[in-house]
Amino acid sequence: MSDRYIDFANSDIGRRLVGAVGLPTPARLERWQAGRLRPIEGSLLVGGGPLAAKVAELAPKLTDSAFAFACEGTNLPAWTAGLGPKIKAVVYDASHIADIGELKQLREFFQPLIKSLDNSAHLLVLGRVPEGLEPAAHIAQKAIEGFTRSLTKELRNGGVLQLLQLDADSELEGALRFFLSPKSTYVDGQVLRLTACATQVTDWTRPLAGKKALVTGAARGIGAAIAETLARDGADVILLDVPQAKADLDALAARLGGRTVDLDICAADAAQQLIAALPDGIDVVVHNAGITRDKTLVNMTPEYWDSVLAVNLDAPQRLTQALFDSGTLKDNGRVILLSSTSGIAGNRGQTNYAASKAGLIGLAQAYGPKLAERGASINAVAPGFIETHMTAQMPFALREAGRRMNALGQGGLPQDVAEAVAWLAQPGSGAVNGQVLRVCGQSVVGA
Ligand SMILES: NC(=O)c1ccc[n+]([C@@H]2O[C@H](COP(=O)([O-])OP(=O)(O)OC[C@H]3O[C@@H](n4cnc5c(N)ncnc54)[C@H](O)[C@@H]3O)[C@@H](O)[C@H]2O)c1
Repeated sequence: MSDRYIDFANSDIGRRLVGAVGLPTPARLERWQAGRLRPIEGSLLVGGGPLAAKVAELAPKLTDSAFAFACEGTNLPAWTAGLGPKIKAVVYDASHIADIGELKQLREFFQPLIKSLDNSAHLLVLGRVPEGLEPAAHIAQKAIEGFTRSLTKELRNGGVLQLLQLDADSELEGALRFFLSPKSTYVDGQVLRLTACATQVTDWTRPLAGKKALVTGAARGIGAAIAETLARDGADVILLDVPQAKADLDALAARLGGRTVDLDICAADAAQQLIAALPDGIDVVVHNAGITRDKTLVNMTPEYWDSVLAVNLDAPQRLTQALFDSGTLKDNGRVILLSSTSGIAGNRGQTNYAASKAGLIGLAQAYGPKLAERGASINAVAPGFIETHMTAQMPFALREAGRRMNALGQGGLPQDVAEAVAWLAQPGSGAVNGQVLRVCGQSVVGA
């Protein structure tokens, strides 16, 4: 469903009217177009501590225009506030900040450049995991979380900002390519931890080349967008949905050159059927199939409760366990679970759904260490308000509230969720494990 308010607010007459009555104007967000090569089309600004030099080395792979600001040890030309070009992407290394006094470096770096940001600018702060640091550094690194989550709410024109907490060997290139490009246009205000990763992408034009990827609930909506995006990135896709969705599933598989599995993931023998359907093993598993059966708890029937828990949580857990135990999930495999911001913040009328979606975050946390023993990873992606068939059915007032109550003032598209899944599916994304990445425009729900 299209968001007509964005079109109106960005038209000539709409801009004047909306401005006159003080309503916000949601930006037109940029999105990745197939065939694009450069993550950043515009200028990259690098600054801060020692990791700035590492980012500067990667800069030619990201853009043909990079500058340094408030940092030493790079060969990049210096950028001057007010004189330099508009900035499309920023990486600031704050990993060296080790006490409260040094936090002012954040203000000193970001304040001069805020007014020089281009539309849909992507900003990244690099920090360290606070736990385990000595107390002064722990406090300072924790403070950076509050700084980034607040600054991003002040960005205009579709700007987004994330904090990546790293150690010395953390895999960085894949994360920079995702977080500095329009692939992460609807990801905002996130804090993610990255470690080293033994496997790497070899061809950035097809980062999933040679990988087999299974997507459940692939016949429509977000699942179909995930399948398309994984196929775009070079994966052989295997599309699963209930037998009733066969026609849509077959049509999508024909278009993407993939194959299908007609299966209800709650069937008693679903695990055996799935393992039999994947004789060559699987590299990427996306548990996307999900249902809602909303009622306040007072009116919640056992059927509503049981069906949501069965599809959304029990089946992903059982199938992941079976694929792992049977060796069907290959070494260095990637498992991605579709959670929801409802599972983080809770939502009236969704005790069953929110329980299932929070449980998926628990599944990622609980299975992460086990999968890591084989080089594999498991993470949850939590979409906020996404423009789909599901959200189009919502009453008007609820739908408008869901759309606007985030830092970007609009809903996301299925492609935005799919891009996050595709990044977590990459070989180098073993650097992220047992975590949850929200794709919600920094929704006020579940912040
Ligand atoms: N749309 C949103 O705004 C939003 C927000 C947060 C999270 N999510 C989550 O994203 C995922 C996809 O959402 P969507 O809006 O595209 O949903 P959708 O209803 O459009 O699609 C879900 C798909 O799952 C399939 N499915 C359902 N039960 C199944 C079963 N037992 N076995 C196999 N397949 C089954 C359906 O046939 C359907 O094709 C869901 O897990 C949902 O909870 C969506």
